[in-house]
Amino acid sequence: MAKQPFFYDITLRDGNQSLKKPWNIQEKEYVFKLLTELGIPAIEVGFPASSEMDFDAVKRLSEIAPKNVTISGLARTVENDIIKAIEAIQPAEKRRLHTFIAMSPFNMKYVLNKTPEEVQKTAIEAVSFAKEKLGKNADIEFSAEHFGDCMENLDFVIDSFQKVVKAGATTINLPNTVERTRIKTFTDMVEKVYNALPKDINISVHCHNDLGMATAATVESYFSGAVQLETALNGLGERAGNTNFYEVAVALYNSDVDVPVDLSKIYETALIISEMSKVAIYEKAPLIGPEALAHRSGIHQDGAVKTKDMKKGAYRAIHPSLIGRKDDEKLGVTSQSGKTAVYEIISRSGYPITIQEAGRITPFIKESAEKAGELSEKELIDIYFQQVFDVKGPFHIVELEKVNENDYILHFTYNDKIFHIEGKGNGPIDACLNALKKTGFEQKLIHYEQKAIDDDTLGAGATAMTVIKIEAPNGKSIIARGLDANTAIANVKAIFNGLNIIAKLN
Ligand code: KIV
Ligand code: ZN
Repeated sequence: MAKQPFFYDITLRDGNQSLKKPWNIQEKEYVFKLLTELGIPAIEVGFPASSEMDFDAVKRLSEIAPKNVTISGLARTVENDIIKAIEAIQPAEKRRLHTFIAMSPFNMKYVLNKTPEEVQKTAIEAVSFAKEKLGKNADIEFSAEHFGDCMENLDFVIDSFQKVVKAGATTINLPNTVERTRIKTFTDMVEKVYNALPKDINISVHCHNDLGMATAATVESYFSGAVQLETALNGLGERAGNTNFYEVAVALYNSDVDVPVDLSKIYETALIISEMSKVAIYEKAPLIGPEALAHRSGIHQDGAVKTKDMKKGAYRAIHPSLIGRKDDEKLGVTSQSGKTAVYEIISRSGYPITIQEAGRITPFIKESAEKAGELSEKELIDIYFQQVFDVKGPFHIVELEKVNENDYILHFTYNDKIFHIEGKGNGPIDACLNALKKTGFEQKLIHYEQKAIDDDTLGAGATAMTVIKIEAPNGKSIIARGLDANTAIANVKAIFNGLNIIAKLN
């Protein structure tokens, strides 16, 4: 069975050094607490030689670190950095020294101005020095900075790794310091290193996101032998950032890997980190972005609704609750949307509607969205009220006048022509239908239902809702509703709404 991934967090070092205003000790302490709550087992808390504040922060976090969390301090391959880092991490029960030097031909030549032999010697000496200081059971990570640029001199780099391992390094970290090439090129190199080193050596990757592939590079590196994955909360880090912890953890989880962290804390943590770092979460950020659960096309909305309570969703990678997201999939209504979304949004808002009615009113909604863009829930509901309870058309009810028990006069207009027709019947609905029949507007009532509703459910004072099904001349049945404080008027309104709906069908 594959080893569990070992998450090594760099938010407090690589992430922090990239912030416009790096965190102070209290802020670092707060982020550290979030990391331990997520269950991250190893945390690089700073670069002690970089500033007094960072030294103090590393020391403080080492003092409060839980016994089972490895605390790491970064140092260049220079003695003073190593001494400072070891001093700062001293209070931690589990401590690691992380030292690094660039090994790419380009960087050795143009940035370090050193020959490969000089660089290798520096690396070995630094690791030996750290080993001497830390003694038995020393936990030392060595990084070949710019490993991703070491295609041409990989043999030299591997030779250096073998030597620093002999000198005492227990973790070999392979940074894609600047992401420039294909993932496959990088993971092939990871695999070569894995095959060349003793199996008790912890192989690690540290990927930057310059081409937007850091998550993929990290995930695939795990399957190429890298057990330690260096990641940052919210993907914070230099330039386009470091590998985003959330994406890697969830991608591995989705690949049936046993991921030993608390995924349910992801969403809440992401929001806090965004606030603290002042780095906004991109609208469309995978998993955590506000838009990551939004569907706007009719086909996607239909699939999303049909699978909404299932573990696997038609158009989502995970159920949002996996990462602690309380908000559900969001259906945005635009000109691209369909009746499923209209039905879902209206019924979720507590209003009565059938899927047939949603299909009937959707063209009006699309027409409005074509002009205005995405409609708000209120705009959608307004159209629903107009097209369900106040349908405009050639018919207009003026009054149903009661003459005596079974005798009524129906006052209405049809295309502005006024009618006053007597109708007899067993109650207002019957009388109204009879009066209409006399004028040639016969309606076949298939179903009738009266519903008492709480005042305010559907707006100002309406306490009676009539739902009827009538047959249109083309043989199709349509549903119509009437709403009023008075039951008799709600009945008649339902008939007239029905007449206007049918008139629009013709
Ligand atoms: O990106 C990088 O190469 C680093 C090293 C210090 C590991 O951050
Ligand atoms: Zn980095």
